Amino acid sequence: MCGIIAYSGRKEAPEVLLNGLRRLEYRGYDSSGIAVVGNPSIKVVKAVGKVDALGNSQGFSGLRGNTGIAHTRWATHGGVTQENAHPHMSSDGAVAVVHNGIIENFRELKAALKEYVFYSETDTEVIPKLIEQGMREGKTFVDAARDAVARIEGRYAVVALHKDGTMVAARNGSPLVLGVGDGEYFAASDIPAFMQYTKRVVYLGDYDFAVIGKGLHIENLQTGPVTRDVSTIEWDAQSAEKGVFEHYMLKEIAEQYETLSRTLEQDPSVITRLATDVRNAESVVLVAAGTAYHACISGRLLFSRIADKNVASVRSSEFENVAHLIDADTLVLAVSQSGETADTLEAVRMAKDAEAKVVAIVNVAGSTLHRESSYALFTNCGPEIGVASTKAYTAQLALMVLTAYALEGKLDEGRRVLDSARNDVYNLTAVSTREHLKELAETLKSMEHVFTIGRQLEYATAKEAALKIKEVSYIHVEALQAGELKHGTIALIEKGTPCIVFFSAANKRETLSNAHEVRARGAYVVGVGPEKDEAFDYFIKVPETGLCNPILQIIPMQVLAYQLAVLRGKDPDRPRNLAKSVTVK
Ligand code: F6R
Repeated sequence: MCGIIAYSGRKEAPEVLLNGLRRLEYRGYDSSGIAVVGNPSIKVVKAVGKVDALGNSQGFSGLRGNTGIAHTRWATHGGVTQENAHPHMSSDGAVAVVHNGIIENFRELKAALKEYVFYSETDTEVIPKLIEQGMREGKTFVDAARDAVARIEGRYAVVALHKDGTMVAARNGSPLVLGVGDGEYFAASDIPAFMQYTKRVVYLGDYDFAVIGKGLHIENLQTGPVTRDVSTIEWDAQSAEKGVFEHYMLKEIAEQYETLSRTLEQDPSVITRLATDVRNAESVVLVAAGTAYHACISGRLLFSRIADKNVASVRSSEFENVAHLIDADTLVLAVSQSGETADTLEAVRMAKDAEAKVVAIVNVAGSTLHRESSYALFTNCGPEIGVASTKAYTAQLALMVLTAYALEGKLDEGRRVLDSARNDVYNLTAVSTREHLKELAETLKSMEHVFTIGRQLEYATAKEAALKIKEVSYIHVEALQAGELKHGTIALIEKGTPCIVFFSAANKRETLSNAHEVRARGAYVVGVGPEKDEAFDYFIKVPETGLCNPILQIIPMQVLAYQLAVLRGKDPDRPRNLAKSVTVK
């Protein structure tokens, strides 16, 4: 939530920062703003709405300078207004601040800053005022900023800029990574923001406080001076571009043939290690939020069947309800694309407090989840920019499948099965399939309600399909468990009710009989599975691939969700009210 980018170097900062904001817009798009060191003062421009509104503003075109900070906002404290847009300033205009996170004690801090006028309703504005107060007491900018950050309680990633060009960057809980170029530095919420300029990054730890001036100096507010290594990232700059695609969501759906091959390029010893840990644990808990949680439902079914033990899947936000059942014999597998989801991180911390072993399946190397886990399996699917998770989901499923095969001592066979399923992914993401699904999208685009139906692994797919369609098209979609229909939900079916039914060889007989039952009540039935049936009004053929079925069956649903969003005039990359990384609880 909220994206930060800062730059200090020789390039024109406004251009670098605007490019960065465009790549961070998935983190929030309520408003944006930029502050650039000018002569003699810092110049600030803000705009309500998407980043383009800032780039197209008159104020922006007049900005010049080589050092600056910028922010794209997902509103938490205070409405979507120009005043609440970041950067926020000290009253003398000497300090500008951008922030991502929540300052829990901002009311107390504000109460102690009575002599200052506040122009926004945000929690952030206390930071420049605290720095200003410290400087009035005679401290240097860096000392005043350090003291201000030390007084903040809550989660934050902060960059403060002084009019002399010195910047400080600090984090606790919210992501912040530094980029190191040739005579230039970047600080950002996420690597794609500066990846076109440098691939050399420094991951900041919690309570790290970096000073960017003539060079880079990092200390930790709790432990003192620290050395942080410079790592080189492997993502290429193009992976964060839309290329020929109209939207990131479509690009990321289409990429899955390739991203799955990168997921398959795993060090086999890490998969085997996870399988061994699953085997050795007394119980296993898979924890995640949203789409990643749906991958956990599949993981639970696969692991419990094969490892023959108690495996649970728990939503991160509900984890505290089961925390008392966790102990040193529990393996907690946390799944996340970003590695920064606040609820998932909190679950991980609870698990660690209970001495459980925590392992991560994560896409972003260097993320908080990666660093807080015993070890991690990487989905390796490159930056996922579209707010709706697509390629990360299939990559998470692929790792679940590989682990399931490894549990049976058949990892090589698992790799072969997945590799051959990739050919079906290729067909399912082809332009011809997209066109075919457009017809279905035309039929469904004006519907108020759609139901997705499945059992076993196909129920996980039904849940993920429902989420995908809901979040980008805003049509109400509900996943129904096929076996539960007769216990109540079949009452919802009437003439014309669209029902998308997922089935596989494992449950064909029962699920098709459910399809006939809803059809008999007038439903418009869409079948997703290996073979056509007379219950279907519309059929989406997805070859039978056993454990890989969830990977393949979700792809046409991702495409359908995308088509529905576009046909309904919605922006699939920036669904209303959503942000990609949910770093607040
Ligand atoms: C939905 C979606 C979200 C995320 C959820 C967890 O398309 O993207 O439901 O899956 O917010 O995010 P990560 O995986 O980053 O922990």
